[in-house]
Amino acid sequence: MQQYLDIFQQLASPYFRQDRPVSEPINAEQLKTIVDFSLGSKGTDLAALKQAASHYLNYQPDSAQVDFFKLLYSGRNNPALLGDWVTSLSNANMHTYQMSPVATLMEQELITQWNRLVGFTTDTQTGDGVMVSGGSQANLIAMMMARQKACPELKTKGFSNQTLVAYVSDQAHYSAQKAASVLGIGTDNLIAVASDNQGRLCPTALKDAIEHSVKQGHKPFYIGLTAGTTVLGAFDPVPECAAIADLYDLWVHIDGAWGAPILFSQQYKHLLEGCELADSFAWDAHKLMNVPITAAVILTRHQGMLEQTCGGGGGDYLFHSDENSAHNLGQKSIQCGRRADALKVWLSWKAIGHNGFSDKVDQLQVIKQGCVEAIESSPTLHMIGPAPYLNVLFQFRPSTHLSEDQLRVLNIAICKAMQVQGGAFVDYAKYQGKTGIRLILANSDTQASDINRLLSHCIKTGESLVNAS
Ligand SMILES: Cc1ncc(COP(=O)(O)O)c(C=O)c1O
Repeated sequence: MQQYLDIFQQLASPYFRQDRPVSEPINAEQLKTIVDFSLGSKGTDLAALKQAASHYLNYQPDSAQVDFFKLLYSGRNNPALLGDWVTSLSNANMHTYQMSPVATLMEQELITQWNRLVGFTTDTQTGDGVMVSGGSQANLIAMMMARQKACPELKTKGFSNQTLVAYVSDQAHYSAQKAASVLGIGTDNLIAVASDNQGRLCPTALKDAIEHSVKQGHKPFYIGLTAGTTVLGAFDPVPECAAIADLYDLWVHIDGAWGAPILFSQQYKHLLEGCELADSFAWDAHKLMNVPITAAVILTRHQGMLEQTCGGGGGDYLFHSDENSAHNLGQKSIQCGRRADALKVWLSWKAIGHNGFSDKVDQLQVIKQGCVEAIESSPTLHMIGPAPYLNVLFQFRPSTHLSEDQLRVLNIAICKAMQVQGGAFVDYAKYQGKTGIRLILANSDTQASDINRLLSHCIKTGESLVNAS
């Protein structure tokens, strides 16, 4: 075993250096000529394994660097990393307390804390929850609970002729479509409700859409709101939508995969005002909380609903009754074997407390504001959507007039050129017909100087691409 520990240490040490390039783009054909991907009948020696692991790290974009702005996570959370290593070492399994005693109690404590922040746990009620592989699975289980509430017989009898209809905003994450497809709702019965000019679901459009479904003889059952949309970081208006849900007795879910940590911040939690009115809530710890993938949770204010929806089976061979069986989490999950993601989240929360996460949100909001102001004062950079959270969507526009299509091509080219030049790793996204550069601010080590460097690089790259064309 010592040999493996030594190799790990040799590989990991250079990986922690801050001066590594954020990414070394390489196409698949080239990569196949460098790394031996073949698997054969004979085994190989440790040196070859070390070489493969080294290649793996070399060509892996480094989301811990301050120049990584591409996805809804970045930076490194050392306590969580320690937790991830120990989790692999333990190979704990979260279906039963017996197979994960400490992790089970840690997960229960996390669920208590998350439910308090959301407001599902109060003096008079106790929320419930279970950790899941990510926001997509959380959104799936939310829709599944809504389906269970609307049609309890469906779990055993399957679908009748009834058409169930779900509503999300036109800015919602694509996992809503996957959920509608997996659960047999049908993606045609997932209505993309119009959003307003701030990217928030429009309540009047929601009510109209529900009325339309009712008139068609369909059965509305689920409203999926988003806290922190993927492109803009918009927060849908919860109280207005919850009031509409009450009129039709619909389940309200909030997808807080990205935006939920705003609840740590006294200064900004108003963006999620009324979230305690929802029935369920998704929260990714592997996004803004910087915990290594995967770590997420589905919360609900309805005790027993997770077991009712996800539970069943396994009693003869897995879920034995003993003095700890009340702590078995397996019946709340759609998985059987489940990794102990709780440890890494618990360690990072223990290390910095609520205040550490709150400081992070507040600091990043300051950086975001500085970034927006720098863009707004630049003659060639233009915001193409509001930035209520930690997403900044902007376009480079040269002084010569270009069509929207040409701007799209140019801005995509800027993203790619910067990556190849070893600069910042950013992504592009489309909002209301305009394609721009999307920055995600998720790394609390990011300084205003990193942002200024990035924006200058965008301008220089844009200008040289225009000059070369
Ligand atoms: C708003 C939102 N919801 C859900 C997801 C899916 O989360 P996961 O990748 O954890 O499944 C994302 C991913 O970016 C997201 O932005």
